[in-house]
Amino acid sequence: MVSKNKTAIILGGSKGIGKEIAKELKKINFKVLVCSRKEIDTSDLESTKKFIKKFKKADVLILNSGGPPPIKFKDLTIDNWKKYFNQLFLSFFLILQKLKINKNGYVFYISSSIIKEPGNSLIVSSSLRSAMSSLLKSFSIEKNLKKITVINIAPGPFKTKRVEELVTNFRKFENSLPLKKIGDPKEIGKFVKFIVENEIKYITGSTVYFDGNINKSFI
Ligand SMILES: NC(=O)c1ccc[n+]([C@@H]2O[C@H](COP(=O)([O-])OP(=O)(O)OC[C@H]3O[C@@H](n4cnc5c(N)ncnc54)[C@H](OP(=O)(O)O)[C@@H]3O)[C@@H](O)[C@H]2O)c1
Repeated sequence: MVSKNKTAIILGGSKGIGKEIAKELKKINFKVLVCSRKEIDTSDLESTKKFIKKFKKADVLILNSGGPPPIKFKDLTIDNWKKYFNQLFLSFFLILQKLKINKNGYVFYISSSIIKEPGNSLIVSSSLRSAMSSLLKSFSIEKNLKKITVINIAPGPFKTKRVEELVTNFRKFENSLPLKKIGDPKEIGKFVKFIVENEIKYITGSTVYFDGNINKSFI
């Protein structure tokens, strides 16, 4: 994609994975709108609606937001579900429905590798992200003829604030991983840049498991 005069909107772009994607797209001359919760809080539908009124189109859209805390099955409340349904599903749906992605554009969704193997801790995350992944697939089919490329990036553990919040003994955690090493979010930034810069299109509709071989399934 020739990136002169092209725009990218990066939700959750102020930290972690989103921030690295922003850095990489800037390197190829994208005009990048980096969003923190100040620009859009996806748990608040009014904030999402205001955002869509203000920003109407983009060439590259990164759907990303903060992750929910681990809550045990027995402790989950209706309010937990409502908040994160807005944050991780309904706001993304509204954005996909209303914000125009220019022809030949890209949508990347940052989900999680646990959509493939849900556990008993990050239940809100795995449930809502599985649903969002299904919605994204439908969206990708809808957009085939506009040549809009849609990719679901499903990360395993990457070294960001999110993991710092979830992990207590970092060394022990890294040792438990197949590569004995946590992921570097720069790699996701570089991956997104590579796809966009090289106009990789036939990958559309796919989920890319960026998980350091945590999931055992080969499909
Ligand atoms: N890191 C991992 O290992 C990993 C693995 C699997 C999945 N994920 C998921 O991937 C996403 C990005 O992860 P990360 O590690 O980069 O997270 P992070 O370092 O915590 O960054 C989260 C980003 O999302 C923004 N954000 C938080 N709550 C938001 C809200 N309600 N509305 C809109 N934006 C919000 C933050 O903005 P502020 O500056 O306002 O805080 C920040 O820019 C998360 O959903 C996470 O659960 C991460």
